[in-house]
Amino acid sequence: MNSSTSTTTSNASGNASGNALGDALASAPVVPVVVLEDASHAVPVANALLAGGLGIMEITLRTECAPDAIAAIAQSVPEVAIGAGTVLNGAQYRIATETGARFIVSPGLDEEVVRLAGDDGIPVYPGVATAGELQRAWNLGVRIVKFFPAGQAGGVPMLKALSAVFRDVQFIPTGGVSASNLGDYLSVPSVIACGGSWLTPGDAIASGDFDRIEGLAREAVGIAAKHRG
Ligand code: 3PG
Repeated sequence: MNSSTSTTTSNASGNASGNALGDALASAPVVPVVVLEDASHAVPVANALLAGGLGIMEITLRTECAPDAIAAIAQSVPEVAIGAGTVLNGAQYRIATETGARFIVSPGLDEEVVRLAGDDGIPVYPGVATAGELQRAWNLGVRIVKFFPAGQAGGVPMLKALSAVFRDVQFIPTGGVSASNLGDYLSVPSVIACGGSWLTPGDAIASGDFDRIEGLAREAVGIAAKHRG
Protein backbone atom coordinates (compact mmCIF):
# COMPACT_ATOMS: atom_id res chain seq x y z
CA MET A 1 0.00 0.00 0.00
CA ASN A 2 1.19 3.44 -0.83
CA SER A 3 1.08 5.36 2.44
CA SER A 4 0.42 8.62 0.64
CA THR A 5 -2.87 7.27 -0.68
CA SER A 6 -3.97 5.17 2.27
CA THR A 7 -6.10 7.91 3.75
CA THR A 8 -7.10 9.84 0.65
CA THR A 9 -8.23 8.95 -2.83
CA SER A 10 -7.47 12.24 -4.47
CA ASN A 11 -4.95 10.60 -6.80
CA ALA A 12 -7.61 8.23 -8.07
CA SER A 13 -10.60 10.43 -8.47
CA GLY A 14 -9.59 14.00 -7.90
CA ASN A 15 -9.21 14.91 -11.52
CA ALA A 16 -9.93 12.89 -14.65
CA SER A 17 -7.79 15.07 -16.85
CA GLY A 18 -4.26 14.02 -17.65
CA ASN A 19 -5.08 10.35 -18.06
CA ALA A 20 -6.63 8.21 -20.75
CA LEU A 21 -10.06 8.51 -19.18
CA GLY A 22 -9.87 12.27 -19.10
CA ASP A 23 -8.95 12.27 -22.77
CA ALA A 24 -11.87 9.99 -23.60
CA LEU A 25 -14.32 12.19 -21.72
CA ALA A 26 -12.92 15.36 -23.25
CA SER A 27 -13.52 14.11 -26.78
CA ALA A 28 -17.09 13.00 -26.01
CA PRO A 29 -18.48 13.43 -22.49
CA VAL A 30 -20.81 10.44 -22.65
CA VAL A 31 -20.29 7.09 -20.90
CA PRO A 32 -22.29 4.20 -22.36
CA VAL A 33 -23.48 1.90 -19.54
CA VAL A 34 -23.63 -1.56 -21.04
CA VAL A 35 -25.34 -4.71 -19.77
CA LEU A 36 -24.15 -7.77 -21.67
CA GLU A 37 -25.68 -11.23 -21.54
CA ASP A 38 -23.06 -12.79 -23.80
CA ALA A 39 -19.36 -11.92 -23.80
CA SER A 40 -19.17 -12.46 -27.57
CA HIS A 41 -21.14 -9.22 -27.98
CA ALA A 42 -18.51 -7.17 -26.17
CA VAL A 43 -16.12 -6.43 -29.02
CA PRO A 44 -18.79 -5.64 -31.65
CA VAL A 45 -20.51 -3.27 -29.22
CA ALA A 46 -17.19 -1.57 -28.41
CA ASN A 47 -16.39 -1.21 -32.11
CA ALA A 48 -19.84 0.21 -32.83
CA LEU A 49 -19.50 2.81 -30.07
CA LEU A 50 -16.03 3.68 -31.29
CA ALA A 51 -17.27 4.04 -34.88
CA GLY A 52 -19.95 6.41 -33.56
CA GLY A 53 -17.32 8.51 -31.79
CA LEU A 54 -17.37 7.18 -28.22
CA GLY A 55 -14.08 5.84 -26.91
CA ILE A 56 -15.28 4.91 -23.45
CA MET A 57 -17.56 2.21 -22.13
CA GLU A 58 -18.75 0.91 -18.75
CA ILE A 59 -19.69 -2.76 -18.52
CA THR A 60 -21.85 -3.53 -15.50
CA LEU A 61 -20.92 -6.45 -13.27
CA ARG A 62 -24.58 -7.44 -13.18
CA THR A 63 -24.21 -10.38 -15.48
CA GLU A 64 -22.03 -13.46 -15.25
CA CYS A 65 -20.20 -12.75 -18.50
CA ALA A 66 -19.13 -9.21 -17.51
CA PRO A 67 -15.52 -10.09 -16.50
CA ASP A 68 -14.98 -11.97 -19.78
CA ALA A 69 -16.51 -9.06 -21.69
CA ILE A 70 -14.20 -6.55 -20.00
CA ALA A 71 -11.18 -8.75 -20.71
CA ALA A 72 -12.16 -9.14 -24.37
CA ILE A 73 -12.39 -5.39 -24.90
CA ALA A 74 -9.19 -4.69 -22.97
CA GLN A 75 -7.39 -7.13 -25.23
CA SER A 76 -9.05 -6.52 -28.62
CA VAL A 77 -10.16 -2.88 -28.56
CA PRO A 78 -7.48 -1.14 -26.46
CA GLU A 79 -8.40 2.28 -27.85
CA VAL A 80 -11.65 2.08 -25.85
CA ALA A 81 -11.30 3.10 -22.19
CA ILE A 82 -13.05 0.14 -20.61
CA GLY A 83 -14.47 0.40 -17.12
CA ALA A 84 -16.55 -1.70 -14.77
CA GLY A 85 -19.89 -0.58 -13.36
CA THR A 86 -22.09 -1.83 -10.53
CA VAL A 87 -18.94 -2.52 -8.50
CA LEU A 88 -20.44 -3.10 -5.06
CA ASN A 89 -17.53 -4.25 -2.88
CA GLY A 90 -13.83 -4.94 -2.69
CA ALA A 91 -14.12 -8.44 -4.12
CA GLN A 92 -15.87 -7.12 -7.22
CA TYR A 93 -13.31 -4.32 -7.48
CA ARG A 94 -10.53 -6.92 -7.65
CA ILE A 95 -12.33 -8.96 -10.31
CA ALA A 96 -12.91 -5.83 -12.38
CA THR A 97 -9.35 -4.56 -12.25
CA GLU A 98 -7.80 -8.00 -12.72
CA THR A 99 -9.78 -8.42 -15.94
CA GLY A 100 -8.67 -5.06 -17.32
CA ALA A 101 -11.09 -2.38 -16.13
CA ARG A 102 -9.40 1.01 -16.24
CA PHE A 103 -12.03 2.81 -14.18
CA ILE A 104 -14.62 1.83 -11.60
CA VAL A 105 -18.21 3.00 -11.17
CA SER A 106 -20.51 2.15 -8.26
CA PRO A 107 -24.22 2.90 -7.82
CA GLY A 108 -23.51 4.02 -4.24
CA LEU A 109 -20.60 4.88 -1.98
CA ASP A 110 -18.51 2.01 -0.62
CA GLU A 111 -15.45 3.05 1.32
CA GLU A 112 -13.50 -0.12 0.59
CA VAL A 113 -13.94 0.30 -3.15
CA VAL A 114 -12.86 3.93 -2.95
CA ARG A 115 -9.85 3.08 -0.80
CA LEU A 116 -8.68 0.19 -3.01
CA ALA A 117 -8.95 2.32 -6.12
CA GLY A 118 -7.04 5.10 -4.39
CA ASP A 119 -4.27 2.70 -3.48
CA ASP A 120 -4.06 1.46 -7.07
CA GLY A 121 -4.41 4.86 -8.73
CA ILE A 122 -7.53 3.72 -10.58
CA PRO A 123 -10.21 6.37 -11.26
CA VAL A 124 -13.30 5.57 -9.18
CA TYR A 125 -16.71 7.18 -9.47
CA PRO A 126 -18.99 6.25 -6.55
CA GLY A 127 -22.67 7.02 -6.82
CA VAL A 128 -24.29 9.70 -4.69
CA ALA A 129 -27.86 10.97 -4.61
CA THR A 130 -27.87 13.26 -1.56
CA ALA A 131 -25.77 15.98 0.06
CA GLY A 132 -24.93 13.61 2.91
CA GLU A 133 -23.56 10.94 0.57
CA LEU A 134 -21.64 13.54 -1.38
CA GLN A 135 -20.12 14.91 1.82
CA ARG A 136 -18.97 11.40 2.80
CA ALA A 137 -17.44 10.94 -0.66
CA TRP A 138 -15.78 14.35 -0.47
CA ASN A 139 -14.24 13.47 2.88
CA LEU A 140 -12.78 10.32 1.29
CA GLY A 141 -11.03 12.54 -1.22
CA VAL A 142 -13.43 11.92 -4.11
CA ARG A 143 -13.90 14.87 -6.45
CA ILE A 144 -15.76 13.21 -9.32
CA VAL A 145 -18.96 11.31 -8.51
CA LYS A 146 -21.70 9.53 -10.35
CA PHE A 147 -24.99 11.32 -9.62
CA PHE A 148 -27.41 8.40 -9.45
CA PRO A 149 -30.24 7.92 -10.16
CA ALA A 150 -30.07 11.35 -11.74
CA GLY A 151 -33.67 11.65 -12.90
CA GLN A 152 -35.24 10.33 -9.72
CA ALA A 153 -32.80 12.18 -7.43
CA GLY A 154 -33.78 15.61 -8.68
CA GLY A 155 -32.23 15.97 -12.11
CA VAL A 156 -30.68 19.25 -13.22
CA PRO A 157 -32.11 21.38 -10.34
CA MET A 158 -30.60 19.01 -7.75
CA LEU A 159 -27.28 18.98 -9.59
CA LYS A 160 -27.19 22.76 -9.56
CA ALA A 161 -28.00 22.85 -5.83
CA LEU A 162 -25.23 20.35 -5.00
CA SER A 163 -22.76 22.12 -7.29
CA ALA A 164 -23.36 25.45 -5.55
CA VAL A 165 -22.16 23.93 -2.29
CA PHE A 166 -19.55 21.37 -3.39
CA ARG A 167 -17.70 23.70 -5.73
CA ASP A 168 -14.74 21.44 -6.47
CA VAL A 169 -16.83 18.38 -7.35
CA GLN A 170 -17.64 17.20 -10.86
CA PHE A 171 -20.61 14.98 -11.65
CA ILE A 172 -21.49 12.14 -13.99
CA PRO A 173 -25.31 12.09 -13.98
CA THR A 174 -26.59 8.61 -14.77
CA GLY A 175 -30.06 7.13 -14.56
CA GLY A 176 -32.81 8.46 -16.77
CA VAL A 177 -30.43 10.24 -19.14
CA SER A 178 -31.26 9.96 -22.85
CA ALA A 179 -30.80 11.84 -26.09
CA SER A 180 -33.76 14.02 -25.13
CA ASN A 181 -32.21 15.44 -21.94
CA LEU A 182 -28.47 14.88 -22.50
CA GLY A 183 -27.99 18.50 -23.57
CA ASP A 184 -29.71 19.79 -20.42
CA TYR A 185 -27.32 17.86 -18.19
CA LEU A 186 -24.22 18.74 -20.23
CA SER A 187 -25.14 22.41 -19.97
CA VAL A 188 -24.42 22.30 -16.23
CA PRO A 189 -20.75 23.37 -15.87
CA SER A 190 -19.98 20.86 -13.11
CA VAL A 191 -21.07 17.93 -15.28
CA ILE A 192 -17.94 16.24 -16.62
CA ALA A 193 -19.92 13.58 -18.51
CA CYS A 194 -23.26 11.78 -18.59
CA GLY A 195 -23.76 8.04 -18.36
CA GLY A 196 -26.57 5.84 -19.54
CA SER A 197 -27.82 2.67 -21.08
CA TRP A 198 -29.81 4.31 -23.87
CA LEU A 199 -26.85 3.98 -26.26
CA THR A 200 -26.79 0.19 -26.11
CA PRO A 201 -30.37 -1.12 -26.01
CA GLY A 202 -30.65 -4.77 -25.02
CA ASP A 203 -32.68 -5.66 -28.08
CA ALA A 204 -30.10 -4.10 -30.42
CA ILE A 205 -27.31 -6.07 -28.77
CA ALA A 206 -29.30 -9.32 -28.82
CA SER A 207 -30.24 -8.98 -32.49
CA GLY A 208 -26.75 -7.88 -33.55
CA ASP A 209 -27.98 -4.48 -34.70
CA PHE A 210 -24.64 -2.79 -34.10
CA ASP A 211 -25.40 -0.13 -36.74
CA ARG A 212 -28.16 1.13 -34.47
CA ILE A 213 -25.70 1.40 -31.57
CA GLU A 214 -23.26 3.27 -33.79
CA GLY A 215 -26.07 5.65 -34.77
CA LEU A 216 -27.05 6.28 -31.16
CA ALA A 217 -23.43 6.99 -30.28
CA ARG A 218 -23.11 9.41 -33.20
CA GLU A 219 -26.29 11.18 -32.15
CA ALA A 220 -24.96 11.58 -28.58
CA VAL A 221 -21.63 12.91 -29.83
CA GLY A 222 -23.51 15.45 -31.92
CA ILE A 223 -25.60 16.60 -28.95
CA ALA A 224 -22.47 16.86 -26.80
CA ALA A 225 -20.68 18.93 -29.46
CA LYS A 226 -23.64 21.31 -29.61
CA HIS A 227 -23.69 21.84 -25.84
CA ARG A 228 -19.96 21.77 -25.21
CA GLY A 229 -18.73 23.57 -28.32
C1 3PG B 1 -26.68 2.47 -14.39
O1 3PG B 1 -26.46 1.31 -14.60
O2 3PG B 1 -25.83 3.28 -14.02
C2 3PG B 1 -28.06 2.92 -14.60
O3 3PG B 1 -28.95 1.90 -14.37
C3 3PG B 1 -28.22 3.43 -15.97
O4 3PG B 1 -29.42 4.08 -15.96
P1 3PG B 1 -30.28 4.18 -17.30
O5 3PG B 1 -30.62 2.75 -17.68
O6 3PG B 1 -31.51 4.96 -16.90
O7 3PG B 1 -29.46 4.86 -18.33
